[in-house]
Amino acid sequence: MHSRLKRGLMLSLLILPFTWLGMNEVNAHKGATGLVKERMDLMKQVGKDMKSLKAMVRGNRAYDPRLVAQISHSMQQAARQIPGQFPEGSLQHPTEARPQIWQQWDKFTNYVRQLETESARLQQIAASADRQSIQHQFRQLNKTCLGCHKSFRKKKKKS
Ligand code: HEC
Repeated sequence: MHSRLKRGLMLSLLILPFTWLGMNEVNAHKGATGLVKERMDLMKQVGKDMKSLKAMVRGNRAYDPRLVAQISHSMQQAARQIPGQFPEGSLQHPTEARPQIWQQWDKFTNYVRQLETESARLQQIAASADRQSIQHQFRQLNKTCLGCHKSFRKKKKKS
């Protein structure tokens, strides 16, 4: 009994630091505050919306034209918020934003405008029966996300 207790204790002493490390990593992502947190939350929402669109466009979920229009509309609103969410030098931990944003501000805001126009186009055709055009427009939108991320967002280490 005594030695089992001792072994258990030793084991938890061994495991404890790892649990701690794991927790810190989780908290690191949640540790964002202020504006950086706001914009990460904004982008996270955009990411969720994009997943819903993708599921509908690919036919993994029933296509709902009103929902597609609604999501595309809120993406335009999100786009309009982006420039204001990136004041110069706002690179506080745990941001994934790259300093190039302010060195190439015109290029960055071009992507913002592109996000707005591509999602507006998707909104316009959401109710049409032309699935190919809808799929094409979804890809244009997706390219905009990827283009901006490639230049201005740090590569994620995981997930
Ligand atoms: C104008 C550039 C730009 C465009 C366009 C853009 N993003 Fe982002 N996105 C960023 C930047 C910069 C970050 C990192 C923000 C930070 O960490 O402070 C980011 C972060 C994200 C994140 C991670 C959020 C988090 O912290 O959990 C997701 C998800 C995301 N974007 C999805 C999208 C999707 C989907 C689209 C297209 C519909 C899109 N983004 C369009 C620049 C852009």
